[in-house]
Amino acid sequence: MLAAGTSADPLAPLRNLGEEGVNCEAYLRRARAVLQDFVARPERIPFADLKRDPKAYTRNLLFGDDRLSIWAIVWPPGSSTSIHDHHCSCCFGVARGALEERWFDAIGDGRAALTNIAVREPGYVACMLPSGPNIHQMRNRGDEEVVTVHIYGFDHTQKASSIETEYSEALR
Ligand SMILES: [Fe+2]
Repeated sequence: MLAAGTSADPLAPLRNLGEEGVNCEAYLRRARAVLQDFVARPERIPFADLKRDPKAYTRNLLFGDDRLSIWAIVWPPGSSTSIHDHHCSCCFGVARGALEERWFDAIGDGRAALTNIAVREPGYVACMLPSGPNIHQMRNRGDEEVVTVHIYGFDHTQKASSIETEYSEALR
């Protein structure tokens, strides 16, 4: 589902992964390089063909095998994830627009307390292992659509998403 006409395979660094798989620092470095390449040349992302919903973020599968899956996510204004962590490695890059990322610490009873807020601009790339803690929330607080690309270390035919646990926000 990647845009046609690409001269080189943008996913080449992620093929033929060794025994270390998708949950180690060496893999994260490869995934980071792929995402940096994507967000630097976003014309390879088929923006016009992506599924979108005016009220919620929408995932579009770009590539998937038995180890990892790559998604383009379209975020309309006002859309947000839950507060969550991941059962697998999680890497993302911002291809279009700016997204707010909020970070949390778990405080028990399924609740999480806000620790940091950052705005992720086009070109931003982050990679994290599931051993975290990596509790965060992404949301589009702007007026324009945002598009991000995510590489997750899970087989999309075996699991519905990368989310491990969802939390409620602790009020201050
Ligand atoms: Fe996440």
